[in-house]
Amino acid sequence: MSNDRQQGAGTVGLEHLGVRPRRLRTSPAMRRMVAEYRLHPAELILPAFVREGIGEPVPVSSMPGVVQHTRDSLRKAAAEAAEAGLGGIMLFGVPLEKDACGTAGTDPEGILQVAIRDVRAEVGDDLVVMSDLCLDEFTDHGHCGVLDAAGRVENDATLERYAEMARVQAEAGVHVVGPSGMMDGQVKVVREALDGAGYQDVSILAYTAKYASAFFGPFREAVDSSLKGDRKTYQQDPANARESLRELALDLAEGADIVMVKPALPYLDVLRRVADAVDVPVAAYQVSGEYAMVEAAAANGWIERDRTIMETLTGAKRAGANMILTYWAVEAAQRLARGE
Ligand code: PBG
Repeated sequence: MSNDRQQGAGTVGLEHLGVRPRRLRTSPAMRRMVAEYRLHPAELILPAFVREGIGEPVPVSSMPGVVQHTRDSLRKAAAEAAEAGLGGIMLFGVPLEKDACGTAGTDPEGILQVAIRDVRAEVGDDLVVMSDLCLDEFTDHGHCGVLDAAGRVENDATLERYAEMARVQAEAGVHVVGPSGMMDGQVKVVREALDGAGYQDVSILAYTAKYASAFFGPFREAVDSSLKGDRKTYQQDPANARESLRELALDLAEGADIVMVKPALPYLDVLRRVADAVDVPVAAYQVSGEYAMVEAAAANGWIERDRTIMETLTGAKRAGANMILTYWAVEAAQRLARGE
């Protein structure tokens, strides 16, 4: 008899199976109670584009649901973001005129500065207002810096432009600047520029580990970028992980308040390594290509859209992100508020 039981299929050794992990997955209430990570609207940040000289919002075709805002629609989007309880909004400006040194980026009346003032007037301090601090939206060649005679992105000349951008963005009322150009020394120069102009309280969200990623593709349309070629001489090689810790050490030494890893999904290992190494807040940027990929698969009926979105956000959180920039920020926050 006991011999039979031991030989019966599926019953071998069951008397020893005291540990059954499935017990803690039995109901939604149980799963909710034992969840290790929980998303909250306050840790979501909405990236938003504002384009100069348009009468109506312009859809970004490679990012269904995302638009280039008018000044007016941006104000409404910011109000909606505050209403949804988001942590912040990250502003990107698309100027009418682009030139070699990105003049519009340092013009106090340039679209990004105007948008910062508009959004601050709308939301005050209810939402953390952030701005991209980079030249690629403003240059006619589409690179993140100014070029030398040979057409190479010149690091130190670009830093002078970033310092000026930091001052005008702070003057416009931004709470946090996000230097994203991957120039050496950018955090140091931006910190000095801010402090020198009396903006000690403006924070720096450093793009610490930013990879030369194909996942930025749809963003180029969102900012009308005319970039030919690539950014491989300043953004990091996807083959490197340890290098991010070097960038991290530099950014912290230079005064970064928050450090970011970008993109998110293909770099969750980097996110975890960075999160384990620091005691400052860590951000992840779920970029345009990550958004487009999920939207496209969902539009084809190949993937469950809403679940996939929440799973990618949870993945970033589990990998160590304290905050996440995502184009789904508002809808994700609304879903969280409904307890879904
Ligand atoms: C640079 C910048 C880029 C993104 C954010 N800041 C473009 C790039 O570095 O090529 C990409 C964001 C996205 O793809 O969603 N200003």
